[in-house]
Formats: sequence, structure tokens, C-alpha cells
Amino acid sequence: MGFSPLSLSQSLSFIMFLFHFHSTISSSHFCAPDQSLSLLQFKESFSINSSASGRCHHPKTESWKEGTGCCLWDGVSCDMKTGHVTALDLSCSMLYGTLHSNSTLFSLHHLQKLDLSDNDFNNSHISPRFGQFSNLTLLNLNSSVFAGQVPSEISHLSKLVSLDLSGNYDPSLEPISFAKLVRNLTELRELDLSRVNMSLVAPNSLTNLSSSLSSLSLWGCGLQGKFPGNIFLLPKLESLDMSYNNRLTGSFPSSNLSNVLSSLDLSNTRISVYLENDLISNLKSLEYMYLRNSNIIRSDLAPLGNLTQLILLDFSSNNFIGEIPSSLGNLVQLRYLKLDSNKFMGQIPDSLGSLLNLRTLSLYGNLFNGTIPSFLFALPSLQYLDLHNNNLIGNISELQHDSLVYLDLSNNHLHGPIPSSIFKQENLEVLILASNSKLTGEISSSICKLRFLRLLDLSNNSLSGSTPLCLGNFSNMLSVLHLGMNNLQGTIPSIFSKNNSLEYLNLNGNELEGKIPPSIISCTLLEVLDLGNNKIEDTFPYFLETLPKLQILVLKSNKLQGFVKGHIQSSLGNLTNLESLDLSSNLLTGRIPMQLEGLTFLAILNLSHNQLEGPIPSGEQFNTFNANLFEGNLGLCGFQVLKECYDDEALSLSPSSFNEEDDSTLFGEGFGWKAVTMGYGCGFVFGVATGYVVFRTKKPSWFLRMVEDKWNLNSKKTKKNVGRYGARRN
Ligand SMILES: *[C@@H]1O[C@H](CO)[C@@H](O)[C@H](O)[C@H]1NC(C)=O
Ligand SMILES: *[C@@H]1O[C@H](CO)[C@@H](O)[C@H](O)[C@H]1NC(C)=O
Ligand SMILES: *[C@@H]1O[C@H](CO)[C@@H](O)[C@H](O)[C@H]1NC(C)=O
Ligand SMILES: *[C@@H]1O[C@H](CO)[C@@H](O)[C@H](O)[C@H]1NC(C)=O
Ligand SMILES: *[C@@H]1O[C@H](CO)[C@@H](O)[C@H](O)[C@H]1NC(C)=O
Ligand SMILES: *[C@@H]1O[C@H](CO)[C@@H](O)[C@H](O)[C@H]1NC(C)=O
Ligand SMILES: *[C@@H]1O[C@H](CO)[C@@H](O)[C@H](O)[C@H]1NC(C)=O
Ligand SMILES: *[C@@H]1O[C@H](CO)[C@@H](O)[C@H](O)[C@H]1NC(C)=O
Ligand SMILES: *[C@@H]1O[C@H](CO)[C@@H](O)[C@H](O)[C@H]1NC(C)=O
Ligand SMILES: *[C@@H]1O[C@H](CO)[C@@H](O)[C@H](O)[C@H]1NC(C)=O
Ligand SMILES: *[C@@H]1O[C@H](CO)[C@@H](O)[C@H](O)[C@H]1NC(C)=O
Ligand SMILES: *[C@@H]1O[C@H](CO)[C@@H](O)[C@H](O)[C@H]1NC(C)=O
Repeated sequence: MGFSPLSLSQSLSFIMFLFHFHSTISSSHFCAPDQSLSLLQFKESFSINSSASGRCHHPKTESWKEGTGCCLWDGVSCDMKTGHVTALDLSCSMLYGTLHSNSTLFSLHHLQKLDLSDNDFNNSHISPRFGQFSNLTLLNLNSSVFAGQVPSEISHLSKLVSLDLSGNYDPSLEPISFAKLVRNLTELRELDLSRVNMSLVAPNSLTNLSSSLSSLSLWGCGLQGKFPGNIFLLPKLESLDMSYNNRLTGSFPSSNLSNVLSSLDLSNTRISVYLENDLISNLKSLEYMYLRNSNIIRSDLAPLGNLTQLILLDFSSNNFIGEIPSSLGNLVQLRYLKLDSNKFMGQIPDSLGSLLNLRTLSLYGNLFNGTIPSFLFALPSLQYLDLHNNNLIGNISELQHDSLVYLDLSNNHLHGPIPSSIFKQENLEVLILASNSKLTGEISSSICKLRFLRLLDLSNNSLSGSTPLCLGNFSNMLSVLHLGMNNLQGTIPSIFSKNNSLEYLNLNGNELEGKIPPSIISCTLLEVLDLGNNKIEDTFPYFLETLPKLQILVLKSNKLQGFVKGHIQSSLGNLTNLESLDLSSNLLTGRIPMQLEGLTFLAILNLSHNQLEGPIPSGEQFNTFNANLFEGNLGLCGFQVLKECYDDEALSLSPSSFNEEDDSTLFGEGFGWKAVTMGYGCGFVFGVATGYVVFRTKKPSWFLRMVEDKWNLNSKKTKKNVGRYGARRN
């Protein structure tokens, strides 16, 4: 047959086909058909779900299409000769669903590496069929929502070099299975079983692990009993993490230590560590030393000055008493120094000025006195400085560099103005200078140059002047703004930009005048709004009702007028998340809107000292409100105030539901976080490390990034807080 012009395109595609076919069989593109089918069936058994991966997002299976060589698919590697799949890397692939024992994954017999980390397998049990991958050298199931028992068949994988089952939902490992694993997995170099429940496994059995082991991570495994000191006879052990095993006792050996050990984490255990000179000389290659909240015996830290390789030293939350030894100045490699939450006293020593590589210095929660030494502000790479809760006095001196990302000097006795160099820290995300009582001067509008600011707390000082008007719209990242308890005058910033991130806005206890700016409704993420104890003159700001996430609204002690007389067009009834409402000491008149009954989360309502009249709404939570939350009004009636309503019907009178607690103390001066949180429990989580408030739905990313702490073992979805610098999912 001859060529006609019409069939040219057909011929062309035939040639293309030949070319493709040729390249497929002649190179690594060849894929055995059964392997391709197994992979496609595996793909079909899961959905792609963006909340299934936390650390990173690469939906690799999306590129898997029938008719293309599987060896070219994302995450798939093959043996070039046989076309067998030998490695599968599906980490962060957003897979969601159950991994059953009949999954076609298990017909990929030739796998040597399998990484399924950071997906959501919906509490699947780890199938015994994993034990059939006889040539597997790497198995990573970390942070993938597996649960149940770790099957003993894992011990069949005698070629494993790296095994990571960490960060799942407390799957358990029986002693007999672990014993088999120890006996058979003789090639292991990395073993991470963090958060696998090993409470029945004898710690001593760890000492028989493979002599090739270089990294052992067992944090949060529920280990109990004596720390196996002989573990350091493993000749290649470089990294040991047994933190968060708070029933692990015994003592840390002072000799026979591995001289290749570079990272040691025994935080949150009860292992006694005797800081003797010979121990220190045994750990001279140590670079990372985490002994937060552990049992360090000896209050003199001077020998630590011998560990000159140290990059990180975390001795926070111990019971050290005394001064910081000047020998710490020898540790010139140090980048992270955390000595917070102890009883260190005296001045912050000058010797720390020689730690020119320091990035993180955390000394909060001690008894340091004297001024903040100016050399701290001359450290060239310092990013994170936390000195809150000490007895520091004097002025804050000017910063010599612009490297700061996090600065917390709150709860000291500092005075004077905020140094202007703070506003030149262009990467600053957190600035907390609260509760120094005597910081004075105005808040410069240069503060609005800090475009990455997420948290600004200057509360409880003596700052004066006006609130910089740019505060409502300068940083779209600002989520906490607290300027309460100062002497600020003028009006509330009137422009709040759209798409702002404010979750907490507190201007309580100033001398602010004027009206509540309607553009505040642009703050659609706002959960707390506290404008109490000011001089705001306005009608009741019903427009706040459009703030969908508002949980706490405090407008007490202002000059607000209204409720509209009790026929209400507007109602506050849409604030369905509201938990606390304080409108006390205003000029409110008329009746309480009955729609408040519908606010089922409302746990605290203070309407005292207004000019309200008529019936108090009834309904579940209204029945628990106490008389003094309604006192000082013109004529409220209802059982809460022991006064029957004559003009209204069906108000239940059940004195037995009286609540004797004095809810009004929950508010006190301004707005007490602790009191409210303790008062009704729900709502907020306190950021432990900063003593700060983070909201219940998420830890802000600055928190995750800045607080170089271990996973919060109590958090329900640990997988979301992956790693020390893990990303927040949105
Ligand atoms: C996505 O995954 C989450 C858990 O990670 C689950 O709660 C949710 O139902 C899933 N969504 C869909 C559409 O499957
Ligand atoms: C996830 O697990 C729950 C509880 O076992 C089950 O009801 C649900 O069907 C599972 N979802 C998927 C997608 O496998
Ligand atoms: C695999 O097993 C699960 C649970 O036993 C079952 O629901 C599912 O239908 C099975 N799938 C196949 C393909 O056999
Ligand atoms: C495992 O590896 C060995 C040696 O490389 C090889 O001979 C054998 O075929 C492999 N087994 C599988 C199932 O791939
Ligand atoms: C989990 O796996 C990832 C990728 O392999 C690794 O970076 C991480 O350190 C592992 N462990 C944890 C606890 O995330
Ligand atoms: C040890 O590994 C071999 C394969 O390498 C396997 O045949 C044997 O069953 C394993 N033993 C145990 C106790 O798991
Ligand atoms: C760990 O296992 C033990 C013994 O089976 C059990 O009592 C304990 O509750 C488990 N812990 C967790 C956190 O699941
Ligand atoms: C370690 O292995 C040796 C030899 O196999 C055995 O005798 C000993 O009991 C094991 N120790 C522990 C604590 O399991
Ligand atoms: C150090 O190891 C040796 C040999 O294993 C042993 O005899 C000695 O008792 C060990 N010392 C300590 C303090 O554990
Ligand atoms: C370690 O430090 C202590 C106290 O500073 C000192 O007395 C001792 O000689 C040092 N040891 C070594 C091996 O440098
Ligand atoms: C700091 O505290 C030390 C000991 O607690 C005390 O001796 C010293 O006088 C104090 N210095 C200042 C400036 O308060
Ligand atoms: C209150 O909610 C209803 C129903 O969602 C909506 O139609 C109405 O516009 C809302 N009112 C205000 C003032 O936002």
C-alpha cells in the first residue's frame, strides 16, 4: 500500500509508537506487566487527601497511568534487567485509606526499599505480610497512622539496614517479637521505634541489638525499668534518643561510653546523670546533648566546659541552683543553649559573650538579676532570645545586628523606652515585652515595618501615646496583638485589612476613645476580642455578630449604649462559637436579647452594672449563671436573681440549679487568660515553652519552628507536628 497525504498523521503516530516501544524495552523504562498492575490496584485502593500528609505534599500516585512504563512513575524504581519494582518511595503522597493484608502492594516481592511515611492509613494494622519482603533493606512507616500490634514477622526481614515505625498511633510491640527482631536483624544501622508501645519490653534487651547500629530512637515508648548502661558497648552508636520514657530509671554510666556518641537525648526520663569529670571526658565527641527535665545530679556545671564539640546543650527544666559557670564560654561551637526553667541566679555571665555561633539562647524562668548584658545584643547570629520570667532590671539596650526572629523579655523589671533597633529586625516574628510595668514612651509607627510579625505583646507596661494606626493592616501574618494594660490614648486603629490573620486582639485597660471601627469585621479569624476598660462611646456594636469564630468578647467598662428595645432586628444569635461575653459596666438599656439562649457554647456571661430590664433568658447555660452576673441593673427578673417575672411566661424557677461559684472573679482586672481557661477548661491550650496562648485548632507555625522541643506527646494528632521544625498544615 502506498502513502497518501491523508494518512500522514497516522504514519507519524505509528513511527512515534515504534520509537516509544523501542525505548521502553531497551532501557530502564521496561516494567513487568504484573508489577504495573499491582501498583495501579494499590493506587486505586486509596484516595488522595491533602490532610493525610503533614510534613510535605507530593501526590506521587497521580502520575501513575495505565499504558506508561511503571518504572518512570513518580516514586517507583526498577531493576533494569528484570523490570521488577525494587524501590517504592511514597512518602508524603497524601494517601488515605486502609492498607489491608490483601493489598497488591504485597505482590511486589522484589522490593528492597519501601517508604510509606507521612500518609494516613487510617489506623491500619501493620500486616504480617510485610515480613515477606525478604530482600528489604529499608522500611519506613513513620507518621502514617498505623495502629495495633507490630507483627513478629517483621523479624523475617533479616537484611534490614533501616527500620522506622515511629510516629504512629501507639502500635504495640510484644517482648517476644522484639527479641526475634533483635536476634535476626543483624544488619540494622538505624532503628526508630518512637511511639511504639514497648512498655513490656525489658530495656536490657536493647543491649543485644546489631553491633552495626549507629542510630537508635525510642522516644515515647513507655519503656520502664533500668536504663541499660551497656548500650554504649554498641561500638558504632552515634545517636541515642530515649526521651519521654518517664518510667525509665537507673543511672547513666560514667565509663565504657561509646567514643563516637554525638547525639544523646534523655529528656523527660528519670535516669540519674552524675556530672563527674570522668563522664565528661568520656563524652568528648558529643555534639547534641538533650537533658531537659531529667535527673541530673550535681549542681556544678563547670565540667561541661570540657565538651568543646557541643552544638546544642539543653539542660532546661532541671533543678539547678546557683550561677552559670564561666567555663560554658569554652563551648564556642554552641548554636543552641537552653538553660531555662531552673534556679540560676546572679548576673548573666560575660563569658557567654564568646559564644559567637549562638542562634538560640533560652534562659527564661530563672532568677537572673542585674541588667541584660549588652554583649547578648551583639551576638551576630542570634535569632531566638527568651529571657522572660527573671528579675532583670534596667533599660533594653540597642541591638547591634538584625538577625532576631523571636524576642521575649516579658515578666522582668525592665524600664525605659523600646529601643528603636528592635524595629529594624526585619525577620522578627515574635515580640513579647509584656509585664515589665515600667516600659515607657510611645509605640513607634516603625513597628509596622516588621512585616513578618505574628505575635506582638507589649501589654502591662506604661506605654503612652496613641496606638499606631497602621497596626490594623501592616502585617498579614499578625495573629496575636496584645497592647492591653498601658496608657494608650486616641482611637482604635480604624482600618483592618482584608485577609488579615488576627486571632487575638486585646486593647483592654487603656484610655481609648471613640467608636469601635466597623472594619474590625475584616478580622474573620478573630477568636478573642477584648476592648474592655476603655472610654469607648458607641451604640452596641451588633456588626461584631458577623465574626464567625469569635469565642470571647469583652467590652466591659466602656460607655456602650443599646440593646435595641430586648423587637430586635439584630441579635448576636449568629455568634455560635461564643464562649464568653462580658458587657458589664456599660450603659446598656432595654432587654437582654433572647437569641443569646441559642449560643450553646456560652459559658460565661456578665451583664452586671448596666441599665437592663425584663426577663433573663432561660435555657441550659443561662440556668447556671450566677446572680452577680446580672446585679446592678434596673430591673432584671428571673430565677437567677431570685425575682419572678410577672409580665412573661414560662420562666422556670428552679433554685436548685444555683451555682455558688463567683464567676465574676474569672475576669478580674482586664482579661485573665489563666482564670478563664481554668474556669471552664475548654477553648485554649497554653504553649508550654513560651507560657503563651496558642489556639486550640493549631499551633502557629512560629511556635513549631521556634520551640525546638519534642513532639507534644499529649497531642492527639502527633503526626501533624512532625519533627522539630515541622510545618503546619493549613
Ligand atoms: C481526609 O483524611 C482525613 C484524615 O486525615 C479524614 O478525616 C477525612 O474524612 C478524609 N477526607 C476524605 C474526603 O476522605
Ligand atoms: C477508616 O476507619 C474507619 C474506622 O475503622 C472506617 O469506618 C472507615 O471506613 C475507614 N475509612 C477508610 C477510607 O478506609
Ligand atoms: C481486602 O480485604 C478487605 C478486608 O478484609 C475487604 O474489605 C476487601 O474487599 C478485600 N479486597 C479485595 C480486593 O479482595
Ligand atoms: C533477593 O536478592 C537475591 C540476591 O540479590 C536475589 O538472588 C533474589 O532473587 C532476590 N529475591 C527477590 C524476591 O527479589
Ligand atoms: C520520618 O521519616 C522522614 C523521612 O524519611 C525523616 O526525615 C524523619 O526524621 C523520620 N522521623 C520522624 C520522627 O519524622
Ligand atoms: C530470620 O530470618 C530468616 C530469613 O533471613 C527467616 O527465615 C527466619 O524465619 C527469621 N527468624 C525469625 C525468628 O524471624
Ligand atoms: C501500652 O501497653 C500497655 C500494656 O499492654 C498498656 O497498659 C498501655 O496502656 C499502653 N500504652 C499506650 C499509650 O497505649
Ligand atoms: C543477649 O544475647 C545473648 C546471646 O544470644 C543471650 O545469652 C542474652 O540472654 C541476651 N541478653 C538479653 C538481655 O536479651
Ligand atoms: C566496662 O566494661 C568492661 C568490659 O565489658 C566491664 O568489665 C566493666 O565492668 C564495665 N564497667 C562499668 C562501670 O560498667
Ligand atoms: C573538665 O573540667 C573540669 C572543671 O572545669 C576540670 O577540672 C577538668 O580538668 C576538665 N577535664 C578535662 C579532661 O579537661
Ligand atoms: C543578684 O543576686 C545575687 C544573689 O542572689 C545577689 O548577691 C546580688 O546582690 C543581686 N544583684 C542585684 C543587682 O540585684
Ligand atoms: C446570620 O446567619 C444567617 C444564617 O446563616 C444569615 O442568613 C444571616 O445573614 C446572618 N446574619 C448576620 C448579621 O450575619
